[in-house]
Amino acid sequence: MNLKYGVEGFPAEFQWGVATAAYQIEGAAFEDGRGLSIWDDFSHTAGRILHGDTGDVACDHYHRMSADIDLLEMLGVTHYRFSIAWPRILPEGKVSPINSTGLDFYQRLVDKLLEKGITPTATLYHWDLPLALQTDGGWVNRDTAEHFAEYAALMVRVLGDRVGHWITHNEPWCSAVLGHLTGEHAPGIQDPEATLSAAHNILLSHGWAVRAMRAVRPSASVGITLNLNMIYGQNDAVETIKAVELQDAFANRWYLDPIFYGQYPSALETIFGHMPAVLPDDMSQIQVPLDFLGINYYFSTVVVGNSSATNPAWPVPVARPEGPLTAMGWPVMPQGLRDLLLRLSRDYPMVPLVITENGAAYPDVPSTGTIPDRDRIRYLEAHIDAVHDAVTQGANVQGYYIWSFLDNFEWALGYAKRFGLFYVDFDTLQRIPKESAFWYRDFLHHLPPF
Ligand code: FCB
Repeated sequence: MNLKYGVEGFPAEFQWGVATAAYQIEGAAFEDGRGLSIWDDFSHTAGRILHGDTGDVACDHYHRMSADIDLLEMLGVTHYRFSIAWPRILPEGKVSPINSTGLDFYQRLVDKLLEKGITPTATLYHWDLPLALQTDGGWVNRDTAEHFAEYAALMVRVLGDRVGHWITHNEPWCSAVLGHLTGEHAPGIQDPEATLSAAHNILLSHGWAVRAMRAVRPSASVGITLNLNMIYGQNDAVETIKAVELQDAFANRWYLDPIFYGQYPSALETIFGHMPAVLPDDMSQIQVPLDFLGINYYFSTVVVGNSSATNPAWPVPVARPEGPLTAMGWPVMPQGLRDLLLRLSRDYPMVPLVITENGAAYPDVPSTGTIPDRDRIRYLEAHIDAVHDAVTQGANVQGYYIWSFLDNFEWALGYAKRFGLFYVDFDTLQRIPKESAFWYRDFLHHLPPF
């Protein structure tokens, strides 16, 4: 093991976990009264997902939940982050009718986790919007935000006595940009205006949900998870510095600033041509104190200030990544995580930080009883070290969750990219621990390397 520090080098009560999301692992898409989501529709639309894959079966976690939690116990995680499929609870998206069989599933999941001494961290929205709400406009319609707040309150009423931490949204940037601008994700829209209003309504739904959840259970620990990254400039030229600011506004501050300061960055006007439409009370609703900020970190971005970029991107040109790349083509940049945590501590000091996702895809291949994934182990070690550096330098980081527990349905890329600590054979649905699973287990048990 190359880690400089073991778990004892981190604050007591640190959350050590793994993360998953409902549509990526559950399967049972058409069973037990679950309603359809935008991802059922999207994945069944020809040409949207690589190889025509769908989440119909995924890892079949819905039927294998109990055995999967035994695997979590083997790992020794203190926390498990999963998401609740909104349409499994509310098939129409609205508070009535309630699908009690769907609720039962999450009751059993939470109870089993607690029985194993694992604290549940539940995400309320990891992209699977009930299809019925999309028919009425989805996130572009403000009513969806009200339905979300009602769903959030319901979940806290039912599970709030047992769930340790709640996350309202996972990566609103992706819901807005990939779902409504590039169209790579459900609902597959390509419209800048829809993007701006979807983002705003998602933020509003977050604010309303946090208030509704606290009204039910004032002690609930509630946060939101954003995908954030450091934006570096390739040089010190004035135009590069401007490009860095623009990209930072687009990638990070678009969500951070309304949540923590009640205002959008003015750079959105440069990017979209005008600022988002905001009703008088909206910003104060969005800016609600949080118990933690969840951060999903995979890589950082280097931007260049002029059009000589070899790899142009919107809204500014970005440099072609250097050094080793993961199977996603993402650069390995652990220093970006350290810098990000320190930057957040400086610019948004009001909130504790939790890394709710970090991990890497590699082309794992089973080989005589084992699945060697040294690249993933190295990636994770380097990032845990970066977290430790940030903690040592004063960042208030309270947890770290690996993405992911199991190989799963990687959205538009289907089953082609493997992020799991456990390999899933998608023909037999057998789970096989990769070397990284043993590595994490040993780390969490303060053991020397396997
Ligand atoms: C994040 C998502 C997660 C997974 C990882 C690789 O953006 O939150 O569901 O797909 O990327």
